[in-house]
Amino acid sequence: MIVTVQQHILQQQKKYPGARGNLSWLLSGITLATKMIESKIRRAGLLDVLGAAGETNVQGEAQQKLDVYANQALLHCLGMRDNVAMMVSEENEEPITLDRADGDGEYAIVFDPLDGSSNIDVNVNVGTIFSIFRRDPGQFKMDPNAHVLQPGLKQVAAGYVVYGPSTVLVYTTGNGAFGFTLDPAIGAYVLSHDNLKMPDYGTYYSANESRFDSFPANYREYIADLREGFEGREYSSRYIGSLVADFHRTILKGGVFLYPPTPSHPGGKLRLLYEANPLAYIAEQAGGMAIDGKNRILEIQPTDIHQRTPLVLGSKAEVTAFQAWKA
Ligand code: AHG
Ligand code: MN
Ligand code: MN
Repeated sequence: MIVTVQQHILQQQKKYPGARGNLSWLLSGITLATKMIESKIRRAGLLDVLGAAGETNVQGEAQQKLDVYANQALLHCLGMRDNVAMMVSEENEEPITLDRADGDGEYAIVFDPLDGSSNIDVNVNVGTIFSIFRRDPGQFKMDPNAHVLQPGLKQVAAGYVVYGPSTVLVYTTGNGAFGFTLDPAIGAYVLSHDNLKMPDYGTYYSANESRFDSFPANYREYIADLREGFEGREYSSRYIGSLVADFHRTILKGGVFLYPPTPSHPGGKLRLLYEANPLAYIAEQAGGMAIDGKNRILEIQPTDIHQRTPLVLGSKAEVTAFQAWKA
């Protein structure tokens, strides 16, 4: 019996009456956009979608053509959902606000349309990450940003799609984490990882070790310990350079992912709103942990829609051990 992601989210909404509003209608906008993105990625070498688009984004990073396409796909599909009042994208400096009738526009959505852009041209996994908040109608007039400058704990839903050998969508609405594999034969995401649970410990650590010497001391000492073996376990290093792919391995196999402060990014490189928060929400729903090196990611009160954060995310055993290090 197949369960599609649309059926699943409707079941979730029935099971948890608190889930007001029409999240399934919003989610169908995301899944449609990701299928459009996936079809471009599958044929990237054949289409003129590889390489740089010749622009730089608000992050000062060279936009890849697929970054632009993925962003357009999400803006278009979600702009057609009348329960979306505003969108924040990694690729847009300002939020996109949509005129909605008073009763509509219940949700504000934040996304990284294409994560791991540096891997597109070499056919390595990339992804899409999204995070959904309920809009507070009272604040809309003053500052649209206010709707998404909420701690990650307030997320109504969060998810990612990893475009790899298969295309897998993982999402949570706060009642567990669930994975769906895109079945190209029917063009639907079908439940394949029911109630995902991250192993309590793993045997992988994941960090960009080219910058090891410039990591803060507690990160260096911690990684040195993992290299020697920890709690009787030998660790291997894996670093794909696409956050969603490194995360997806971590949720399935356990272990720890670290993006520490570096000289070029003393506040961390990864973005809080559309990278760390959604993945932290899913990690915790799967029994894992996510901190900024000290504090729980989901409790951080954001001040800017593109703010960055250090990130230590993974199994309870490894993240708890990290916290024990003197920062
Ligand atoms: P994006 O492509 O959305 O800008 O994200 C890239 C991020 C993340 O996917 C990955 O974990 C990290 O950049 C890799 O950074 P380094 O190349 O500095 O290791
Ligand atoms: Mn990213
Ligand atoms: Mn991106």
